Amino acid sequence: MLVHSIPTNAGYDFASDVRAGLTRPDQKELPSKYLYDDVGSALFEVISHLPEYGLTRADERLLRRHAKEIVERVPGPVAVAELGSGSGKKTRWLLEAFCRRQRTSYYPVEISHAALVMCERELSDIDAISIVGFEREYLDGLLEVAAYRKPGQHLCVLFLGSTIGNFDRAAGVDFLAEVRSILQPDDSLLLGTDLEKSGSQLLQAYDDELGVTAAFNLNLLARVNRELAADFALDHFEHTARINSEARSVEMHLVSKRHQVVSIPMAEVVVEFQEGETIWTESSHKYSSDEIFDTARKAGFRCEVQWIDEQWPFAENLLIAE
Ligand SMILES: C[S@@+](CC[C@H](N)C(=O)[O-])C[C@H]1O[C@@H](n2cnc3c(N)ncnc32)[C@H](O)[C@@H]1O
Repeated sequence: MLVHSIPTNAGYDFASDVRAGLTRPDQKELPSKYLYDDVGSALFEVISHLPEYGLTRADERLLRRHAKEIVERVPGPVAVAELGSGSGKKTRWLLEAFCRRQRTSYYPVEISHAALVMCERELSDIDAISIVGFEREYLDGLLEVAAYRKPGQHLCVLFLGSTIGNFDRAAGVDFLAEVRSILQPDDSLLLGTDLEKSGSQLLQAYDDELGVTAAFNLNLLARVNRELAADFALDHFEHTARINSEARSVEMHLVSKRHQVVSIPMAEVVVEFQEGETIWTESSHKYSSDEIFDTARKAGFRCEVQWIDEQWPFAENLLIAE
């Protein structure tokens, strides 16, 4: 077992993204990737255990049940890259199956340092694995992983947990096409997608009774306070989840409870909020099982197999690069 980390080269600028997002003339927004600092990554782990949030358990059930078949369908020798691995807990089922077949290199790509550390710790005891973590954005990390590829080696990319849903549908296709452009024919992409379900089930999943998702969302303002010396009063904002029927998504917002002015010195901006005005922090688009075949095709893949969970509508899709 070898564990090694490639540290961040921060290809993004938190301060300028915060300034751009909060000075938008219409809907203020903050990119969802910034939800995952050390606190946010820890809170997301807790969310994945909440009874209301069945998504992670559905993903894990499918991976556990079908790991052997997935690995048999992925031609070897193979290196495995995971985009946004989080703690990597449910990836264990796949990696153990890959490592039973051959010694396997695993490359988690994570924007969150804390998630990458959790992931490396979680999976390092697997026999015949070597782990090289990249603290990078998805495509930057994947490009570097592809440069490690040995002659004749296939790449299997994992994009689990329905993180694809954070992109709107068109941007999701564009993103998958970018992934495809880094791959070679017959490389594979295992894509987890949360499927459409009732509005009430979604609202509970994204606004749980304990308030963990609310804390996860509000932590974004706390992060702006910590890292950019801002003066957000957290109790002047509240978390809300909203269904966007047209987009077939659930959105997380932070609602300003009053008229207020917030100063963010390190982003060189002062922001005024009206009472009821929101900051849009995340969207999670939900898919129909059929449309994934079309999404895959538009991005240069074919969807070879789809497995659907019986308890929580969620699909694991094995895409092969054409
Ligand atoms: C919804 S969580 C899913 C985690 C895990 N894959 C799962 O299924 O439980 C998304 C993960 O992607 C990471 N992430 C978000 N945006 C990213 C980006 N642009 N580049 C790399 N990682 C990102 C986050 O830090 C977080 O760990």
